[in-house]
Amino acid sequence: MSVEVRPRPEGLGAEVRGVDLARGLAGEDLAAVKAAFAEHGVIWFPGQPLTHDQLEAFTRSFGDFGWDPYIAPLADRPHILEVRREPDETASVFGGAWHSDWSFQETPPAATILHAKEVPPVGGDTLFADGRAAWDALSPTFQTLLKPLRAVHSAGRPYGAQGFYAKEAGRKGMTILPSAEADKTFTHPIARRHPVSGRTALFVNPVYTLGIEGMTEAESAAILGFLFRHMTDERFVYRHAWSPDMLTMWDNRCLLHNATGGYDGHRRVMHRTTVAGERPAAA
Ligand code: SIN
Repeated sequence: MSVEVRPRPEGLGAEVRGVDLARGLAGEDLAAVKAAFAEHGVIWFPGQPLTHDQLEAFTRSFGDFGWDPYIAPLADRPHILEVRREPDETASVFGGAWHSDWSFQETPPAATILHAKEVPPVGGDTLFADGRAAWDALSPTFQTLLKPLRAVHSAGRPYGAQGFYAKEAGRKGMTILPSAEADKTFTHPIARRHPVSGRTALFVNPVYTLGIEGMTEAESAAILGFLFRHMTDERFVYRHAWSPDMLTMWDNRCLLHNATGGYDGHRRVMHRTTVAGERPAAA
């Protein structure tokens, strides 16, 4: 087998062919996939049926499993979450707002891996926004202003004891476990240096970022509001369409993502793992 990487001409993301993930990745193939991941931010492998063991083995070829709180995993698989929405479900789409996975953790996951088990005939795309291109598009003056700043992240708004999911009704496909623990905060640099590519990316998101350290709420809201709009401008966004057995992995260190709906009346099922990351470094 030899890895074939097909980058999107517009920039963000690449399709990868020429590998059989069920057999595992090693040697030059693994190195080529890691290089594509570091360069393109989100990569996808169409037509890769995988057992749970094979999905776990693929994940482990990139590092240790991440820690996934607040969602019950599959019964016998503590590292696999099932992102499931039933045809008659009225609850919100899980992950349906711009975010970077678990950015409230001290060491947020480097990568998230999503494997498509059941794909609706319409809707259910995932949007990705490139925090590196968004950083590059800022003026040098604004970059200089942002570089020393740290943002405060917390899981409280979605997963707190009084948070969004604690109050929401109508969820069927997933068990969400709100907790008072979710109100804990961590600060991370707003301008994050990627440990592999060395590129700088904006590292804030509207779900988990509460404010900027040392600033008033109004000051934080003005800067973060601008950054959220800027990062998710259509210039930096890729809309990813799924097919059954497609495996997609994205880099939480430099991308935001957002699950879209539009498939009421149909089931959507994905299996999700994360790869542990490091403490975010300032640019
Ligand atoms: C997620 O945010 O992990 C879910 C993404 C998706 O279901 O498309």
